[in-house]
Amino acid sequence: MKRIVELTINGEARDMAVETCCSLLDALRDDVGLTGTKKGCDVGDCGACTVLVDGEPVNACLMLAVEAEGRSVETVEGLQPSVDTLHPLQDAFMQHGASQCGFCTPGILMMAKKLLADNPRPTDEDIRFGLSGNICRCTGYTKIFDAIKSAAREMEAARS
Ligand code: FES
Ligand code: FES
Repeated sequence: MKRIVELTINGEARDMAVETCCSLLDALRDDVGLTGTKKGCDVGDCGACTVLVDGEPVNACLMLAVEAEGRSVETVEGLQPSVDTLHPLQDAFMQHGASQCGFCTPGILMMAKKLLADNPRPTDEDIRFGLSGNICRCTGYTKIFDAIKSAAREMEAARS
C-alpha cells in the first residue's frame, strides 16, 4: 500500500508516494531520483547511505520513508551552495585525492559536514571517531582525514 509522504529534501518541499515498507534510501534513489546516496550493505553496516535528517546523520537504509514525514532531509546533492560552487569539503576531497571508486564518498561527505558543524577544529582522533560508521575500501582513510582537516581550515578562514 502506498502512502504520500510530505517532507523537505535539500530545502525543497516534496511529496513522495511510497510503499509503507520502503526505506528512505530506496525512496530517495528510486522515487525521487537522487542517486548520489549510495546503497552499500542495506543493513546499516557501511555508512554509504548516510544523509542528514533534521541535521542529524542517519543511515537511510535503516529508516522507513514514511518516518521522514514532515522532516528535513539533506543528501549529497544538496551540499553544493550553487551549481558552479563546490562545498569546501567537496573541493578538499578533490584536491587531496580523497575519493577513489567514490562509493563511500557521499556518505562520508554528509557525515563530515555534521562533524565540522559540531566541531570546527577536529583532531585526527575526532575525525576517526566521527567516521567510525563509514567504511571505505579504497583510500586507507589518510587522504580523507587530510581533506576534512583542510576543509575545516578553509571554512574557518571563510568565517574570520
Ligand atoms: S547501505 Fe546503509 S549502512 Fe550500508
Ligand atoms: S573511495 Fe572506494 S570505498 Fe571509499
